[in-house]
Amino acid sequence: MVAWIPWDQVQAAIEYGPGTGVFTQAIKQVLPGQSTFFAIERSPELAALVRQRCPSVTVYEDTVENVVACCQLSRVQQVDAIVCGLPWASFPETLQDRCLDAMMQVLRPGGRFVSFAYWQGLALPAAWRFRRKLDDYFQQVERSPTVWRNVPPAFVYRCVR
Ligand SMILES: C[S@@+](CC[C@H](N)C(=O)[O-])C[C@H]1O[C@@H](n2cnc3c(N)ncnc32)[C@H](O)[C@@H]1O
Repeated sequence: MVAWIPWDQVQAAIEYGPGTGVFTQAIKQVLPGQSTFFAIERSPELAALVRQRCPSVTVYEDTVENVVACCQLSRVQQVDAIVCGLPWASFPETLQDRCLDAMMQVLRPGGRFVSFAYWQGLALPAAWRFRRKLDDYFQQVERSPTVWRNVPPAFVYRCVR
């Protein structure tokens, strides 16, 4: 999830849906010291957990649909990278659209978006709908090989705006 981003060139990055903060911790290890980074987590309980795990990270308790407002609060206009743990396959189409439309307002052209999905999730129509939308929103979309050792097996979408 984190390795594909050229972190040495990142001035600003966001994590969507950090959950328990596993990716947050990995991002902190590779993030250049002078760059801006924050996370957006809808659940207050999980936001508190991420703050506990990574005290130096700003976590907005909000939905990623409001990413523009979060960027304003952090005094960032555009970001270079978005690392995402959102469960897209469980989102209705209107929510997928709102989240992606808002993302396009802050992810710079050439910026990178990385998001994981569970292999079994491909049985869900919403997962394929999300996959098709990626082609509409991004110049380049690739899918990593499935990581069978992950429980459950998962893969990563790597997208360039
Ligand atoms: C699959 S979990 C993330 C897993 C995480 N990478 C971890 O290691 O724990 C998805 C997270 O996205 C959050 N989430 C779901 N919809 C959201 C939204 N619209 N805006 C922000 N966070 C959201 C959930 O609260 C949850 O914490």
